[in-house]
Amino acid sequence: MKATAKLVFLFLLLFSSGVYALDIRFSGTGNVIVSGCKSRYIILPIEESVEECTAEIINGCIKKESFTVRLAKNNVDYFVPVLVRGGDVLNIISADDRLGDYICWKEVYESDTFDTSNKEIYRPVYHHSPLYGWMNDPNGMFYDPVNGLWHLYYQYNPYGSVWGNMTWGHSVSSDLIHWENKGRAINADAWGMIFSGSAVVDTANVSGFGRNAVIAMYTSAGKSQTQSISYSLDGGYTFIPYTNNPVLTDSNPDFRDPKLFYNRQRGLWSVILSCGQQVKFYSSKDFKHWTFDSSFGTGYGCHDGVWECPDLFELPVKGTKEKLWVLLVNINPGGVWGGSATQYFIGKYDGYKFTSIQKDVKWMDAGKDHYATVSFYGAPDGRTMAMAWMSNWQYANIVPTKQFRSQNSLVRDLGLYKDINGVYWLSVLPSKEYDKLSGEKLNKFESKVGSDGVVVSIKDAPSVFNLDLKNISAGKAKVELYNDDNDTIKFVYDFKASSFLLERGDQNVSADFAVKEFVYIPKIKQKYSDVSFDVFLDNCSLEIFETHGRMSSTNLIFPKKMYSHIRFTSDKGYFTANILQRAVNLK
Ligand code: FRU
Repeated sequence: MKATAKLVFLFLLLFSSGVYALDIRFSGTGNVIVSGCKSRYIILPIEESVEECTAEIINGCIKKESFTVRLAKNNVDYFVPVLVRGGDVLNIISADDRLGDYICWKEVYESDTFDTSNKEIYRPVYHHSPLYGWMNDPNGMFYDPVNGLWHLYYQYNPYGSVWGNMTWGHSVSSDLIHWENKGRAINADAWGMIFSGSAVVDTANVSGFGRNAVIAMYTSAGKSQTQSISYSLDGGYTFIPYTNNPVLTDSNPDFRDPKLFYNRQRGLWSVILSCGQQVKFYSSKDFKHWTFDSSFGTGYGCHDGVWECPDLFELPVKGTKEKLWVLLVNINPGGVWGGSATQYFIGKYDGYKFTSIQKDVKWMDAGKDHYATVSFYGAPDGRTMAMAWMSNWQYANIVPTKQFRSQNSLVRDLGLYKDINGVYWLSVLPSKEYDKLSGEKLNKFESKVGSDGVVVSIKDAPSVFNLDLKNISAGKAKVELYNDDNDTIKFVYDFKASSFLLERGDQNVSADFAVKEFVYIPKIKQKYSDVSFDVFLDNCSLEIFETHGRMSSTNLIFPKKMYSHIRFTSDKGYFTANILQRAVNLK
């Protein structure tokens, strides 16, 4: 390029990105005012390890929004966009008198676009993740049968990839594989941040908000945790807060995560929510006035942490005419693998009260990254479909991604079955929508495996596997996925006990990330000792489903590069390993 052309190019670049337009005023200690933005966004540089400061979006002397942000002091980890409109000014307030010296003021810029393309190596290709920023629990999921669309809201921080500033982000999908980001659906208001909750469709307009209003109920997290509702008259894209919020209060400081469901026995709406280490049931004829029905929890299940994100639904027992109710209760900490996990209870519900037929703990997933699991409202064909947040509070804030942090599990279809001892269990299968994921065949392999082991090369890419282990004379089958950097995840299937053991190293995340020799009970008791698994490998996760739904194991993985081999080993005698790896079809 000639020198003059270069200059013109540089000028155009600077002009189009508006680099020089921002007016940054250092207004006293710990206070900086950013104004003069002519573009859509002010792009703020973030450094995660520094203290938070407060940012206020002010227009015409009115504070429109206030949020916390970790502005880059010495290094820039990544950027976040702040949407500004019609003369909005950013007022930054920090406890640090040296705010004006931060590197942030050299790096901040304005722009009409913000690059959210998938650049990080751990960005999932077929799991839902936020375009940028932090995500935890899936919230308010529902299916819209008219448009064939799945709506998914989620706990979202748009101003950084760590927990904070909770709002509801929103994504939609027509196939549960491709998710379209729809921005923020419910923003914090005078009652506080927007914590977890649920959404249903008020077809009969009992709320008076309008026929087919989508009603979201969630926790307003302010001085206390109270429950609020907002409604949407455009099918779930924009929400209007109800003027008389909050609609439900309690003196317990942990009172949250309302899950609405239609109470067929009584012809009204009910809600289940967590309250300390219990769940509480309320019901209502209009979503606005709630009456207490009952509580459940004392003496049942695991109480080593706070009960969160409960759910209740009825399921048929496979192969019988019987139906039972399942109560999901997520708990953190106290999960069986350490940290967060989903426990469940099977029992009866008479429209007022849940009675468990079991006292002991049952865990829904044999993995370490399966939390805040709740079901979709209105899933088609009477199915019960659920999704989990694929992380664990022990390390969720520090996993090695930047522009985004956290992803959701694949959607699961739930059922009930009775084992050979007459004990009821929840069955968990990947939803049939994921059959479409199976693309071209990459590897097919069958071999007799002895104690010397057999190694198979696999394509080191997101893929799906069918894995059959047929016993000849072995005790246990060990299956290790690994790469040549010594990153490994391993599981062992015990043919006799029908049990499942998992091991995962710390993968440089934290000591808590490591899973050591965890044996999963219940046993996957089957008529024969052979077993088959469907395995879903994405850039930072491995989900293993026993093909009858008798076990699932959901885990994050952060190998330096993707696994390229599987090693099968028998403890004694022989088994046959049969594996089919398929590419992920994203068409
Ligand atoms: C569970 C949880 C919920 C709460 C939300 C806040 O992960 O702690 O109980 O509503 O996250 O983000």
